[in-house]
Amino acid sequence: MSELNRSISKQLFEKAKTYFPGGVNSPVRAFRSVGGTPLFIQKGDGAYLWDEDGNKYTDFCCSWGPLILGHNHPDIFEGTVAALANGASFGAPTKKENELAALILSNIPFIDKLRFVSSGTEAVMSAIRLARGASGKTKLVKFEGCYHGHVDSLMVKAGSGLVTLGTSSSAGVPESLANETIVLPLNDLSKLSEILHAQAHEIAAVIIEPIPANNGLLLQDKTFLLSLRALCTKLNILLIFDEVISGFRVAFGGAAAFYDIIPDIVTYGKIMGGGLPVGAYGASNELMSNVSPEGPVYQAGTLSGNPVAMAAGIAQLSNCLRSGFYEELSVKTLGFVQAINKHASDSSYPFKLVSIGSIFWLSFEENKRIASADQINPDMSNFNLLHAELLNRGIYIGPSGYEVGFISQAHSEVILDASVIGFCDALDAIFTVK
Ligand SMILES: Cc1ncc(COP(=O)(O)O)c(C=O)c1O
Repeated sequence: MSELNRSISKQLFEKAKTYFPGGVNSPVRAFRSVGGTPLFIQKGDGAYLWDEDGNKYTDFCCSWGPLILGHNHPDIFEGTVAALANGASFGAPTKKENELAALILSNIPFIDKLRFVSSGTEAVMSAIRLARGASGKTKLVKFEGCYHGHVDSLMVKAGSGLVTLGTSSSAGVPESLANETIVLPLNDLSKLSEILHAQAHEIAAVIIEPIPANNGLLLQDKTFLLSLRALCTKLNILLIFDEVISGFRVAFGGAAAFYDIIPDIVTYGKIMGGGLPVGAYGASNELMSNVSPEGPVYQAGTLSGNPVAMAAGIAQLSNCLRSGFYEELSVKTLGFVQAINKHASDSSYPFKLVSIGSIFWLSFEENKRIASADQINPDMSNFNLLHAELLNRGIYIGPSGYEVGFISQAHSEVILDASVIGFCDALDAIFTVK
């Protein structure tokens, strides 16, 4: 399949390199691992994207997760424009913050209060401060392959962005801070139990993506998650679920609702902002009473609870609350995944889509189930070939083999059927040419 003309994107990228490190404002966007030039996007509508050269793509990246209704959803458009007409930001409370909070709190019973921030990273950073402030302890446990934003103490073995760049940690993170973080393998109960028992007196919290989706899709055994919950309770360690991806994605109440496991603190981002920059952390009244101005844990933000972003969140989450919303998404995703997997298995290709809810991951691991980061084959050459073949067939997925894809409400059966054909054809191209 011949390469699409992306000459305008190429020119824009050359210019962008003179403005931004690597030409981008977030590293994975740079296409470093797949090679070539990032698409410069002109617009999105429904399930589609258009680049500046006028090429049209079915979008399975969905802005890395937030766009669960697709691009340019009329409710989000109208809600944000109406909010903007009243002014972009006040740095004072607005009714919209109450409205979005009420939507969330009345449907996620295990959190009593939350605090809005402007990104997932900020949500996690604040949740950690709360855990440390409330417990009086400093150490954190995280899991290899889980990404929690570019928070200093969590920039250790942290998923796609770092793995793609071939490092396990970031320069600029003081060793003293990294030393406060204990990194454990996912899905390994005996290791977890050993460390938590030995160091409970100094561990403030364990943080986990309950559906780890930043280093492949490393689905955990439910028994592992249940044991993690039980151990944290027993040893008086706070459990933080980082639901920046899984929140409002696998169920309205995220992985906590999906697995029926209640964390002590939860972080959200992505979907809750409807495509605008919003994050949040939430917990019980007791824990949240530690947060300033009620308590001594300081956390603040000029644009926190921004009214335009709140309006986008209200429009998005109101749609997510419609009856059957998540069931429909899951059924569509399963149909898509099964059709592609059937083709791959009938053709004996070492390829499989792994999925949960409306999240999927392109796995080249034959039929092995992968639940921890060290099990992934670091050779991404097949993914890189497939990525290029998919782009040339008008299918856009994130430019890293460690990243997951997303299906939105806007991906109709017709669009998905067409994408199955494109996907299978792209698989044929990489596996039969070789
Ligand atoms: C699980 C998880 N936590 C935190 C973050 C950081 O969110 P943000 O990029 O909005 O800062 C991400 C981003 O991908 C994420 O996937």
